[in-house]
Amino acid sequence: MRDYIQKIKSAMDLNELEKLRVEIFGKKGVLAASFSKLKSLSNDEKKEFAKELNVLKTQLSNLLQEKKESLNKKAMEISMQKDGVDVTLFDAACENGALHPVQATMDKMIEYFFGLNFEIQEGPLVEDDFHNFEALNLPEFHPARDMQDTFYFKDSKLLRTHTSPVQIRTMLKEKPPIRIISPGAVFRRDLDITHTPQFHQIEGLVVEEGNKVSFANLKFILENFLTHMFGDVKVRFRPSFFPFTEPSAEVDISCIFCKGKGCRVCSHTGWIEILGCGMVDPNVFKAVGYEDVSGYAFGLGVERVAMLLHQIPDLRSLYEGDLRLLEQFK
Ligand code: PHE
Repeated sequence: MRDYIQKIKSAMDLNELEKLRVEIFGKKGVLAASFSKLKSLSNDEKKEFAKELNVLKTQLSNLLQEKKESLNKKAMEISMQKDGVDVTLFDAACENGALHPVQATMDKMIEYFFGLNFEIQEGPLVEDDFHNFEALNLPEFHPARDMQDTFYFKDSKLLRTHTSPVQIRTMLKEKPPIRIISPGAVFRRDLDITHTPQFHQIEGLVVEEGNKVSFANLKFILENFLTHMFGDVKVRFRPSFFPFTEPSAEVDISCIFCKGKGCRVCSHTGWIEILGCGMVDPNVFKAVGYEDVSGYAFGLGVERVAMLLHQIPDLRSLYEGDLRLLEQFK
């Protein structure tokens, strides 16, 4: 049994050590076998042998414990060498990234409305006809549906063409007062230097009970918003039409390139169209079961604002992932 001292000392790993432990200390191990021999000995011999056995038992047990600790330590060192990361290692290929210009523009917009206690609401990208059109006062066969070239699925679902369905979803689940913005992706069948089939919008909706909300409130919020985004620009409201707002307006800013003198970007008008807005149409309130309320809504494209802020000539280049473009936004 003394040969186990050497066996323990030369064990190569924890598995081997565990096997030895069972061989020695297990129920059917060598120690148990030796102790059972005691019975057949005379009393004097018994005493002597038992003493020897107990010393050996303690010695083996201590040895096992020491060996276990040292093997554990060795295993830890090996795994640290294998899995560890050398944080001092210099990797020349690793460069800092930056927010994509569309995300950065979106963040700047959200920042303004956050400051005015607007909450963020999100809706699904795959919408149904009710939320994207019907409840927004765009019944079937309404000619204004053609303004938005829609991607349809087979089962009458569609990719939302604007963020306005989030107005409906919010009003259906909440009561006024409502004060939300809704940023997100939208989809239209369109592709040229100022259009991509997927782009982003931010929607805004404010609703209060009674007639507390006025066009003047809308005008104030949007004028300040456009100053936040573009700095010192002139803002003008132009009468327009959207089925879900009445009255409706489109908002222009004075051209940030020629300062309103007229150039190629503004088609020599001195103005750049930037968003759509208006007072929520009574038919929209009816569709969501609201009574005796007033509100305004607005929506604008994020890519268009990013293009203007960074003077990006071709909108499609924002989605090509070309590092020569992206590197300029670090
Ligand atoms: N949904 C409109 C669009 O996509 C924008 C808009 C939103 C206009 C809210 C008025 C009110 O063009």
